[in-house]
Amino acid sequence: MKYFLIFFIFLGSINFLFAAEESSKKIELPDNFVSGDSERGSQLVESCSACHGTDGNSISSDWPKLAGQNQKYLYEQLQYFKDGVRMNALMMSVTPYLQTLDNEDLLDIAAFYSNYETSVGQAKNDEELLNVGTQLYRFGNMKKGIPACTSCHAVYGQGNSLAGFPAVAGQQIGYLTSTLKAYRSKERNTGELSEMMQSIAQNLSDDEIDALANYMHGLYQ
Ligand code: HEC
Ligand code: HEC
Repeated sequence: MKYFLIFFIFLGSINFLFAAEESSKKIELPDNFVSGDSERGSQLVESCSACHGTDGNSISSDWPKLAGQNQKYLYEQLQYFKDGVRMNALMMSVTPYLQTLDNEDLLDIAAFYSNYETSVGQAKNDEELLNVGTQLYRFGNMKKGIPACTSCHAVYGQGNSLAGFPAVAGQQIGYLTSTLKAYRSKERNTGELSEMMQSIAQNLSDDEIDALANYMHGLYQ
């Protein structure tokens, strides 16, 4: 213990201490990804449809659509909510329920929503907003340290299901805006994958976030 303390003092870095604490929150996710049983999943989502819709297409702009989202991403986020690593006032109402479910149940829920199709969104037809959104999404802004979103979320916003990078096409504007801001303030912080988005969101202004949210909402193939 003494040696550890000396080591920490020698290191003199508060960041390191934080990092150590963060990693203890991390949860184990399976390496080999198998598909869930959507039929079974359909019997586990009764308490979710009020907000996420019966087919995973939520009606409120502030509540995320789950329809068509890749299974790996949905499964991981459910684990985070279950373990309290990701927190949200509305999702808190189902956290006790999620805690009664095992990994297989969560995977089945993920499979259930993943099988539906995302409803198409309608971007605001504002030329300036669309220009900024298109430019940033497709090409990023090297000078500001913003990479192109296409490299991970794909040209049409379908994400990358193998890597578990989320689909963003057609996602609700209110939710896209609030979640990008939550990455920027580091409030959304579930480990390495969020850190990737945190460092990107760090460089986005409010106006750029609005433009990107509008663009992604209206994206479809
Ligand atoms: C009272 C409304 C409400 C209920 C009920 C609810 N959710 Fe949510 N859910 C939300 C909100 C709001 C968010 C966005 C949270 C945030 O901003 O971090 C969310 C986020 C999610 C996400 C992450 C989506 C993403 O794109 O990252 C998943 C997965 C999810 N909910 C699944 C469920 C499941 C499964 C149930 C039922 C067991 C459920 N939710 C019940 C409101 C709700
Ligand atoms: C290097 C890969 C990468 C790049 C580049 C990237 N993202 Fe992400 N993005 C991710 C990953 C991984 C996640 C999920 C992180 C997590 O688990 O919290 C994510 C999550 C998101 C989410 C949340 C989705 C949801 O359903 O909650 C949004 C919105 C988003 N990214 C938008 C963007 C935008 C806009 C850009 C470009 C400015 C961008 N991303 C660039 C990898 C990337």
